[in-house]
Amino acid sequence: MSALIDLSSLYDLGEKVALVTGGAEGMGKEVCRFLASAGATVAVADINLPWAQDTAREIVEAGGNASAYHVDLAAEQSVVDLLHAVRKQHERLDILVNVAGLQDREFLTETSLALWDKLHNVNLRGSFLTIREAAKIMRADGRGGRIVNISSMGSVHPIFEGLVAYNASKAGVNGLTRNAAYELAQHGINVNAILPGNTTTAGQGRTPGPPIDISKLKNLTPPLGRTGKVSDIASAVLFLVAPASEWITGQTLIVDGGHLNN
Ligand SMILES: NC(=O)c1ccc[n+]([C@@H]2O[C@H](COP(=O)([O-])OP(=O)(O)OC[C@H]3O[C@@H](n4cnc5c(N)ncnc54)[C@H](O)[C@@H]3O)[C@@H](O)[C@H]2O)c1
Repeated sequence: MSALIDLSSLYDLGEKVALVTGGAEGMGKEVCRFLASAGATVAVADINLPWAQDTAREIVEAGGNASAYHVDLAAEQSVVDLLHAVRKQHERLDILVNVAGLQDREFLTETSLALWDKLHNVNLRGSFLTIREAAKIMRADGRGGRIVNISSMGSVHPIFEGLVAYNASKAGVNGLTRNAAYELAQHGINVNAILPGNTTTAGQGRTPGPPIDISKLKNLTPPLGRTGKVSDIASAVLFLVAPASEWITGQTLIVDGGHLNN
């Protein structure tokens, strides 16, 4: 036995099939690139099919394996159809990463039921639906699996005003994560969440909502000195879907440059 360990095997996703929601852009696209780079075949799912196809095409042109799927996470049948399509095309499903999400902002007193429902239907109910359908497949196939949900640091501590509905939906994702992990452990399915801090994406920049009052922000820059990059989040996702994290489940990992520790 060598005294040294082959660490590459701890991050090898060869043979694995991974479904990533929200893969058209932002963090989701970066997660697709990371998982494909580790050898996974990636199913890129998004409501924005043309951009999901771009993600898949770029990965294939670079020598990886990927294909694109349309899904509307707010529609139950669309999610059921997505999981069936992925299972049918690839004959297995090992990894689910729920990245897709809406980040619309509104002050509490102006938050309509329509906005509340819109955010919860995609962020929380959509994640529940993908987990439910993925878990059925993983359980039936008997190979275990990995599920990672992208929550938010705001789910455990308010950062700025206007995020009541959003942060409530993401707090729900944390509860969903812990309870799914508890039920699915017996099937060898690990479920964890990542709670990103402020991470620069084009989608976040386009998010509808009232102007953010910078003067009320406690700290603009986290202790590590910069806002997040999508690769900061994708590398944490890679760890949680890789063999390296085999004994970790039910956790909510804050990846925020130390922001909440401020
Ligand atoms: N950017 C940040 O600072 C930040 C911080 C904390 C958490 N998050 C969370 O991280 C995730 C990714 O954030 P991002 O900034 O990359 O977002 P983004 O807006 O760039 O990408 C979100 C993706 O979700 C897709 N999507 C939206 N509604 C959908 C639906 N109904 N069905 C399927 N796909 C749908 C969009 O088309 C898009 O491709 C989100 O869940 C977000 O809430 C982001």
